[in-house]
Amino acid sequence: MTILVSGGAGFIGGNFVLDWLAGSDEAVINVDKLTYAGNLDTLKLLEGDVRHIFVRADIGDREAICRLLMEHEPRAVINFAAESHVDRSIHGPGDFIQTNVVGTFNLLETVRAYWNELPADEKGAFRFLHVSTDEVYGTLEANDPPFSETNTFEPNSPYSASKAASDHLVRAWHHTYGLPVLTTNCSNNYGPYHFPEKLIPLVILNALNGKPLPIYGDGQQIRDWLYVKDHCSAIRRVLEAGKVGETYNVGGWNEKANLDVVKTICSLLDELQPRADGQGYAAQITYVTDRPGHDRRYAIDARKLERELGWKPAETFESGIRKTVEWYLANQAWVSNVTSGAYREWVSTQYGA
Ligand code: NAD
Ligand code: DAU
Repeated sequence: MTILVSGGAGFIGGNFVLDWLAGSDEAVINVDKLTYAGNLDTLKLLEGDVRHIFVRADIGDREAICRLLMEHEPRAVINFAAESHVDRSIHGPGDFIQTNVVGTFNLLETVRAYWNELPADEKGAFRFLHVSTDEVYGTLEANDPPFSETNTFEPNSPYSASKAASDHLVRAWHHTYGLPVLTTNCSNNYGPYHFPEKLIPLVILNALNGKPLPIYGDGQQIRDWLYVKDHCSAIRRVLEAGKVGETYNVGGWNEKANLDVVKTICSLLDELQPRADGQGYAAQITYVTDRPGHDRRYAIDARKLERELGWKPAETFESGIRKTVEWYLANQAWVSNVTSGAYREWVSTQYGA
């Protein structure tokens, strides 16, 4: 049997493919456009592994995806492919609409045509799992309960609006055409192979390079952090036992203010690789202009996934963030490969010289 994963050269998709093949012999067809965020170095451990077939293609390319579906006959498609960075969506929303909305639409249509032709037993067992975000629910006040699956969608950024649109398409393809879909809405991930445009890897690398650690606004915005391998185990569990047509919220019960996250990283670096001048890394913390429309707080109520499918995260924030900092210290080669020209251009657009 085979699964098809889209966006498997990115942060979460890459971790998912590595974890999948570490625990199963079921082959993975990995389809990725290799945008600035896709990186084959993440999949280096799979070089020569016949269970992993990488194909560079756009999820919106119906001909290419159709060919792969006909050739490999996967029993499931897991859609990670997306433009994923909120700040980039503010600078240039067009790519977000193209991939997250139009791309998902094209993928759904291609998969529907394939699924329609499957024999009855395979048709019943087939799954389309769409990986989405908690940002579709909007923002929370300090005392609001965490987001549950029944919260209304109130997306606030071009990124979250495009993801909300894709979730709606997935839902409609089930209700109208019967496509057996599952959707997961997850909180902020962190861990190995995280592209250093996002807060946690950016702060680790800037700290080590003696650069400012940029805090947007007052740094009191709250995110609910989940170690990426816990997200991967949740997706495997939903794929295995999730009820068709349902959505599942995935989160780590780890609400932290950004400033506290940055201070935790500084303390770990102080312990693991102290600065040569004896000062703490926290001295590099710098307050910068806030993100426009910055959501104040996200928090996930993951009880449905726990109650119905028995999933729980394995890592606490403390154990996960230590593993993450250690991973970045030990994997400087991966870091130098991703911090190329395109990355440097982004840093100067967003943070100035
Ligand atoms: P990422 O930006 O690291 O990776 C995205 C991958 O998709 C890249 O490899 C990129 O090359 C590929 N891609 C982009 N456009 C494509 C296209 N048109 N066709 C094929 N491939 C394309 O993103 P990520 O952080 O790994 O996020 C993966 C998914 O999980 C996204 O759908 C995102 O919305 C969702 N998500 C992310 C988080 C998080 O904290 N990072 C949390 C919840 C949900
Ligand atoms: O909640 C899930 C979402 O988490 C995913 O859907 C997105 O794909 C993912 O990128 C992430 O979005 P955020 O905007 O929360 O992540 P980011 O790492 O960009 O920022 C985390 C917080 O840190 C946010 O409040 C903005 C702040 N921040 C970020 C950067 C890059 C800073 O204060 N300084 C920075 O330099």
